[in-house]
Amino acid sequence: MVGTQWGDEGKGKIVDLLTGRADVVVRFQGGNNAGHTLKVSGEQVILHLIPSGILYPETLNIIANGVVVDPGVLLEEKEELRKRGYFPNDSQLIISERAHVIMPYHKIIDQCREEILGGAKIGTTGRGIGPAYEDKASRMGIRMGDLLREKNLRKKINAALDEKNFLIEHRFHRPPFDPDQVIEEYVEYGRKLKPHITDTSYVLFNRISAGSRILFEGAQGTLLDIDHGTYPYVTSSNVISGNVCCGSGVSPTSIEGIWGVMKAYSTRVGHGGFPTELNDSLGEEIRTRGAEFGATTGRPRRCGWLDMVVISYSIRLNGLTGIALTKMDVLTGISPLKICLGYELDGVVTDRVPADIGDLERVIPRYREVKGWDEPLEDCRSFDDLPKNAKDYVETIEHLTGVPVTLVSVGPSRDQSILRKSPF
Ligand code: IMP
Repeated sequence: MVGTQWGDEGKGKIVDLLTGRADVVVRFQGGNNAGHTLKVSGEQVILHLIPSGILYPETLNIIANGVVVDPGVLLEEKEELRKRGYFPNDSQLIISERAHVIMPYHKIIDQCREEILGGAKIGTTGRGIGPAYEDKASRMGIRMGDLLREKNLRKKINAALDEKNFLIEHRFHRPPFDPDQVIEEYVEYGRKLKPHITDTSYVLFNRISAGSRILFEGAQGTLLDIDHGTYPYVTSSNVISGNVCCGSGVSPTSIEGIWGVMKAYSTRVGHGGFPTELNDSLGEEIRTRGAEFGATTGRPRRCGWLDMVVISYSIRLNGLTGIALTKMDVLTGISPLKICLGYELDGVVTDRVPADIGDLERVIPRYREVKGWDEPLEDCRSFDDLPKNAKDYVETIEHLTGVPVTLVSVGPSRDQSILRKSPF
């Protein structure tokens, strides 16, 4: 299950809904830059790191090797869930010993870099995600398994701080970290997280062999992918379906279906090109109605029309076999609705997303207008319950993409969903 736009498509709710049918839920990339807002029995639960399957006592949740883990955040999330009566058994969550750890210096470097960039900043979540992935690639990273081996950890943190403290002091003019303090804090995290840390790829292999139903839960969205997104305004991991394999250690031949979660309109947080953005009162209205404020940072999301150039690109990159269409209810009362079918760039019409961010910022969207609907959708529980124009909106999407809309979401609660086809 992956995001087809810029993240915040409502993946949390869809994954939560389908988790009832899954035996295992796996996070394979990103970190606590993600935020999944779930509504269960009228209660709001926001998860940043722990897979949504944690709300079901029978489900095994996996934080796989491709994730970057902030152990402090993970422990806080665990405690918060326990307080609310969820996550009673440690065995509900396993974490890859190969997953990289977000260190305090990653967070400072992330935040200081953004400060220096000023108006040109990426708009990161400031959680240290980029610097943690950088260290993974430069072979300076600390992995979850290292937290269990104090001598090793000491060596690695000392080596990393040798370089990072220089940067922090002399480039960012912040106080350096005391290696002993960092080591002590992370040894303690290791002690607390020990029951969860294991070889998750091996566990997954055995679960696949045993015929378990496994749901891989993507974070962020395709246009934030480090390779294929609106670079440099992207996150630091591959978020598309292909990374399920690298990020969790399963083979491509074991994947049986790929669903994309797609919001009925577009949003993005952070900076960077967004061709169908509505910088007017309608954009404001969609933001308010759709509660479009970041689950992680609380930032207002930029809102705009549905962009089929983006969606077609996502379908191609991810190989989607189904679309879960979310937040249809937010569009009630807006008519006409616009769907972007192409971009005009220097007088030439294209149906492709330009690689250059400058080009993306200059394109003029070409729209098709379709009729909206006035009826509230919140109580619709079957496709036939939807008003005609809402059905037409769904069918237009199917026609334009050639991919079935397998699920329509009409509100934040689990039951406000029209499941047209099960993925399992
Ligand atoms: P980072 O992932 O914190 O490095 O942020 C890089 C970009 O990705 C910024 O534009 C963030 O706003 C965006 N981003 C990261 N995670 C999410 C998410 O879960 N939803 C939406 N945007 C995200």
